[in-house]
Amino acid sequence: MAIDAKTTLYGVFGNPVAHSLSPAMHNAAFGTAGLNAVYLAFGVTDAKGAVAAMRSLSMGGASVTIPHKSAVMDHLDGVDDTARAIGAVNTIVNREGTLLGYNSDVDGAMRALEEKGTIMGKKVAMIGAGGAARAIGYGVRQKGGTLVIANRSASKGEALAQELGAVFCPLPELDLSDVDILVNATSVGMVPNTGELPLSVSSLTARTLVMDIVYNPLATALLVAARAKGCPTVDGTAMFVYQAARQFELWTGLAAPAELMRRTVLGALKARG
Ligand code: ATR
Repeated sequence: MAIDAKTTLYGVFGNPVAHSLSPAMHNAAFGTAGLNAVYLAFGVTDAKGAVAAMRSLSMGGASVTIPHKSAVMDHLDGVDDTARAIGAVNTIVNREGTLLGYNSDVDGAMRALEEKGTIMGKKVAMIGAGGAARAIGYGVRQKGGTLVIANRSASKGEALAQELGAVFCPLPELDLSDVDILVNATSVGMVPNTGELPLSVSSLTARTLVMDIVYNPLATALLVAARAKGCPTVDGTAMFVYQAARQFELWTGLAAPAELMRRTVLGALKARG
């Protein structure tokens, strides 16, 4: 698709963004859908200014990432209930001059898990209490799963558990033997600390579905250990790709080419080595 005078601009606002895989993924999606649109990465320090620029440049939409997910909310014309509930917007849609905020991380994480089975009535154990954990935990509770939160810092873990109607368990005490779904929502295992596990997996059995949000490396120490025990797994590209697929749907009203988006991410990760 050639860029011309009618091309619609999209982009990601974050800091840092130099290693973002979102431009590759979204431009591939726009291209295959035949849309006259382009997606760029913007290293942004001023969230308010970036939202004002969206208006003045008539951008079609934006992804929002660390550290601006909560700061942009004050400058939008509306924020959807899910994004409001978790206090984070990662998607802005420009609907004819009205800027609306959404959170596609919740939908992305739920799609990644639901591909493997339902969440309703399942016992979910989640490690972490940061932004990613809040989105995943909120989705699990909405879907009717029970939730146990374990976290390195007890105070953060307890606070999130209370907020989400979950139970807190100190990390070393987490018994995985009756857990249906285990989610690592921390950065533990990410390069360069690729040997690290977020918890002991001695009580893990093959009945548990294990999801990791870390995608660099794809085969984290947790997923390698889980597969060795016979567990089904969901790697870190799933939530990342599906949150972007949801963004594409919010922006265009079209079904997202999620498989192409996944292949694009896998290709970009492989090229990085
Ligand atoms: P994000 O918004 O990406 O989720 P975050 O808010 O910085 O990131 O949260 C990071 C999460 O990973 C937290 O739950 C953090 O635990 P603490 O609350 O104790 O800080 C967890 N985390 C990061 N590094 C960790 C490590 N080396 N061991 C255990 N937990 C870790």
